[in-house]
Amino acid sequence: MLLAKALCAATLFVGGVHAVLTNYTLDDTSPNITYTREPLFRCSPGVCNSAWTARLFNQTSATTDAPITVPFTGSAVYVYLETLATCYFKIDGVLVGGYVNASDQVDINLAYWTVGLPDSQHVLTIYPAVTGSSIQFDYIIYSHDVPQKKSHVAAIIGGVVGGVALTVILSLAAFIVRRREKKRRISMRGIPLGDHWPDKPSLKLAGLSPQK
Ligand SMILES: *[C@@H]1O[C@H](CO)[C@@H](O)[C@H](O)[C@H]1NC(C)=O
Ligand SMILES: *[C@@H]1O[C@H](CO)[C@@H](O)[C@H](O)[C@H]1NC(C)=O
Ligand SMILES: *[C@@H]1O[C@H](CO)[C@@H](O)[C@H](O)[C@H]1NC(C)=O
Ligand SMILES: *[C@@H]1O[C@H](CO)[C@@H](O)[C@H](O)[C@H]1NC(C)=O
Repeated sequence: MLLAKALCAATLFVGGVHAVLTNYTLDDTSPNITYTREPLFRCSPGVCNSAWTARLFNQTSATTDAPITVPFTGSAVYVYLETLATCYFKIDGVLVGGYVNASDQVDINLAYWTVGLPDSQHVLTIYPAVTGSSIQFDYIIYSHDVPQKKSHVAAIIGGVVGGVALTVILSLAAFIVRRREKKRRISMRGIPLGDHWPDKPSLKLAGLSPQK
């Protein structure tokens, strides 16, 4: 009975395993990014001016006029780029958004983002809306729930230790209650166990420890 209770408490502890949403960044140079056609142009220090490369993630960008595909495993994705005109975004083949270069924008922008996807494998496709237009692609960030392995082990240890401690406490409580019951039964037979006559030595029953 006590063991069952303790095991139940331990199970509750283990049930509290948590995952942490973690961001991963894929640079335009990452092997995980596929360019349908070789980029027209790649910015890097020494190729583009340093004032510009300083504003790019990892100081690089890739300019292309063809679709870019990015497989990722996660529940959210953020796309950083700039385009000559307009570009579109598809997730798993479904059109999910578009982005227009407002005439005064020359900087890299958060062109598209989404959260709340099923945390599984997806394919993001970025492509120019019209032929002849181009995309200057900088990087993407995607978010994925990472189960916390260490705290999983900690939770199991915590649960077992907690369960054992609970068993010990409950057993001790049961022992104290039983001992009190036993003493009460003895004193109810009419033999005072306490020190009722301070001038005389107190009466002691053989085999019983004196009452406090
Ligand atoms: C991931 O990055 C995005 C974009 O910068 C940010 O809005 C979000 O809060 C980040 N999420 C986590 C869990 O760090
Ligand atoms: C930064 O770019 C270089 C190539 O220029 C690449 O080798 C490196 O992996 C990139 N770093 C990150 C964090 O993507
Ligand atoms: C790149 O892709 C591989 C294979 O799909 C994957 O295991 C890896 O985690 C990816 N890297 C990043 C930084 O997303
Ligand atoms: C965005 O539009 C401005 C103004 O038309 C242009 O100067 C800039 O080159 C465009 N950005 C890109 C990356 O094509």
